[in-house]
Amino acid sequence: MFRIRQGNCKEYVDHFLSLLFSYFCQLSAINQNFIIMINSKVEKALNEQVEKEGYSSSLYLAMASWAEVKGMPGIAAWLYVQSDEERMHMLKIIKFVNERGGKAVVPAFKQPAADFPSVKAMFEDVLKHEQFISASINDIVAVCIAEKDYTSQQWLQWFVNEQIEEETNAMQILDKIKLLGDGSLYLFDRDIMTLRQEAGAAE
Ligand code: FEO
Repeated sequence: MFRIRQGNCKEYVDHFLSLLFSYFCQLSAINQNFIIMINSKVEKALNEQVEKEGYSSSLYLAMASWAEVKGMPGIAAWLYVQSDEERMHMLKIIKFVNERGGKAVVPAFKQPAADFPSVKAMFEDVLKHEQFISASINDIVAVCIAEKDYTSQQWLQWFVNEQIEEETNAMQILDKIKLLGDGSLYLFDRDIMTLRQEAGAAE
């Protein structure tokens, strides 16, 4: 029979608490070293997305350069920022894949067009491209669900929200171009960066 002598009770409680503390310390150490490995199909899909985000960055860089040469510094500035954002998306995916025990592979990116028929046509391409990227992100979410990789699915939610914003931005720009008409590109070029400030203030 387990007996606790009078006066020793505090000793037993202290001993029990110290055992409990060391147990939680060990558990915490295990948790810190424990990685929920990325699912291989999700890893493949994310590596394909690395290529799409990298190409997006090159595409917007090419558009920015075209706009700059054509004497539209505002539109160029908007597109340079967009190109940087796409590179950031690519880096975000690369780091996530690597941190989850996978291996991100940086591919070659196809060369984007060097010339665009008009500013309106160019932003129509931006919208179409963002819709393509949104569909691609949604496909990866579907792979996560099918493979029960709920950690990646949750992490991808940031991209789902980002795509809503990017499609909205492209649509707003197209609305403004249609409203102003091709003859008012000077005003549009002067004001386009204010759209970024408005979007930033609304966040
Ligand atoms: Fe990162 Fe706009 O897609």
